[in-house]
Amino acid sequence: MRIVSGIQPTGSLHLGNYLGAIRNWARMQDSMEQGSECLFFLADLHAISMPHDPAELRAATLEMTAALVACGIDPNRSILFNQAQVPAHAEMQWLLNGTARMGWLNRMTQFKDKSGKNREGASVALFTYPVLQAADVLLYQATHVPVGEDQKQHLELARDIAQKFNNDFCPDDAPVFTLPDPIIPPEAARIMSLRDGTMKMSKSDPSDMSRINLSDHPDEVMKKVKKAKTDPEPLPSEVEGLAGRAEALNLVAIYAALSDRTVADVLAEYGGQGFGVFKPALGELMVETLRPITERFNALLRDREALDAILARGAARARAIAEPTLAATYEALGLVRG
Ligand code: TYM
Repeated sequence: MRIVSGIQPTGSLHLGNYLGAIRNWARMQDSMEQGSECLFFLADLHAISMPHDPAELRAATLEMTAALVACGIDPNRSILFNQAQVPAHAEMQWLLNGTARMGWLNRMTQFKDKSGKNREGASVALFTYPVLQAADVLLYQATHVPVGEDQKQHLELARDIAQKFNNDFCPDDAPVFTLPDPIIPPEAARIMSLRDGTMKMSKSDPSDMSRINLSDHPDEVMKKVKKAKTDPEPLPSEVEGLAGRAEALNLVAIYAALSDRTVADVLAEYGGQGFGVFKPALGELMVETLRPITERFNALLRDREALDAILARGAARARAIAEPTLAATYEALGLVRG
C-alpha cells in the first residue's frame, strides 16, 4: 500500500479538514504494515492558483506542518513535505498536460465554483490544478488517497489520466502508473458550514463563524456551536427525519464523526431532544477532542527550525521515491533526459 494525500496551506486547519481527511491520514499511518508507506504534503504549488500573499503562504506552510503533526502525523513514520521542495511534482504536471483533455478539465466543478462569474480572469493554474493533483499521486504510485468528498472528482480525473497514459504510451504488461483509489470517511465525507448547511465548511468562507478552527479557544468553539444555524424542531429519532434539515443533519454528523458513532446511533440517544440540549453536548465533545491537538499545535509553532527540518527531511525522502516514476514517464514519452 502507498498512501498519498495533500492539503493546501491556506488559512488554518478546520474541523472539515480534520474529520474529512487528516484524522484518516493519522489512522492509516497508525495501521500501516511493514513495507507500506504514507506520504503527506502541503500543496503549496496549488495555493498559487488563487491570489495570495507570498509572506502569508510561507507562514501558512509552516503552520499547516505544525497542525498536521499536532493531529498525529508522525514525521518519523510518514513522509511529510511541501510540494515546492520536490520539483518532480511540477515536472510531472507538465508531462501529464499532454495526456489530460480540455473537455475533462472543463467538467471540474471546483474550477467552476472557484472561478465563479470571472472565468476569463481566473488563473491558468486554477484550470490545470487537477492535473497537478494527478501528478501528486501518480508520481508516487499511490494506491490509496484519503480525502473528503469534494476531492473525489479530482481523483477520478487522476485515474482517467493514468489510464490514458498507460494505454497510449506503455506496453500492456508494463504500465507506468498505478490507478489510485479514494478513501472517503462515511460520516464525515462533507462537513458543512455552521451558518449554512448547504455550503461546505471551508477555509475561504469569509465568515469565521462558519467553521471551527483547530486554533480556536474553547470559549470560541462553544460560542460558534451555540450560534450555529438550526431549525426549531427537536432532533428526530430516525435518520429519515433529518431529510430536508441540512443544518440539523450537519451537527449530528459532526457529533457522530467526533465520537466514532453512526448518525443513527447518535439519534437513538438524542432523538426528541431540542438543540438547547444537543448543542452544549456537541460543543463539549468538540472542545475535548480538539484540546490536546490545539495544545500540541501551539507548542510546535514555537520551534520554527524544527518544522523546517521536518519538511527538508520529508522532501529528500519524497524526491527519492518520485525519481524512478518520473524517469519512466520521460522515457515512455520519448523525451531524452540526459
Ligand atoms: P483542501 O486543502 O481544500 O482540503 C484538505 C482535505 O480536507 C478535506 N476537506 C473536507 N472534508 C470534509 N468536509 C469538508 N468541509 C472539507 N473541507 C476540506 C478535503 O477533501 C481534503 O481531503 N486539492 C486538495 C489538496 C490536494 C490533494 C492532492 C489531495 C492537492 N493535491 C493530492 C489529495 C491528493 C485541496 O485543496 O484540499
